[in-house]
Amino acid sequence: MTDMTSIPPVVTIDGPSGSGKGTIAKLLADKLGYALLDSGALYRLTALAALNADVALDGDNLDEARVAAIAGNLDIRFAIAGGEVSAVLEGKDVSRDIRMERVSMAASKVAAIPAVREALLQRQRDFRALPGLVADGRDMGTTVFPDAPVKVFLTASAEERARRRFDQLQGRGVSVSLRDLLEDIRARDDRDMNRAASPLAPAEDAVVLDSTDIDIDGVLHKVLDLVQQRIG
Ligand code: C5P
Repeated sequence: MTDMTSIPPVVTIDGPSGSGKGTIAKLLADKLGYALLDSGALYRLTALAALNADVALDGDNLDEARVAAIAGNLDIRFAIAGGEVSAVLEGKDVSRDIRMERVSMAASKVAAIPAVREALLQRQRDFRALPGLVADGRDMGTTVFPDAPVKVFLTASAEERARRRFDQLQGRGVSVSLRDLLEDIRARDDRDMNRAASPLAPAEDAVVLDSTDIDIDGVLHKVLDLVQQRIG
């Protein structure tokens, strides 16, 4: 018989861009002492590597086979220093580069390629380790960890998500237009929800939380309650 205690539990946090899932996932992992998988970073790293290699990512020119080969051979690692996780691509710290808007857009394009998703699947599952894992993304509960005991789908209105991103960028001194951000968010939502491969959708057994009118602490509390009930 399988010893269930040796299977690391997974808490999946899925949802659209800007729903706060990255922040919640990190706080939760810290609180529980679990490992953290930021699966979006893997798609962002693939996108950055493809952009660096001048691979066409637009419309009819999208070179799917080349992007999938890049995803399969990514030379990456995540380094932890002072509680912060940095993403290293081919030996270079690219943590800031992968957060740029052009990489965000490219990431949602490469993420729609089934062969890219397939190439990154095992890499994501390899993050599962004792005492547990918090996995943040779009298809953590549906495709990557369907057996996870706790699945959360975190959402918020597109306007609220654009406003949060606007405040974040302004705080960093980056000047952007709220309207452009809202358009970008809608375009990425549309691509993430309507693609054939692992579209963004709550797992059947996910708990859906809307963070439009709840702050981070409120959401964290609700998720911790769920973990308590289902994992103990
Ligand atoms: O979460 P983040 O915004 O960093 O993800 C970047 C992009 O990667 C998303 O817009 C989405 O298209 C894609 N993604 C995905 N599946 C995941 C995580 C991210 O398709 N599990």
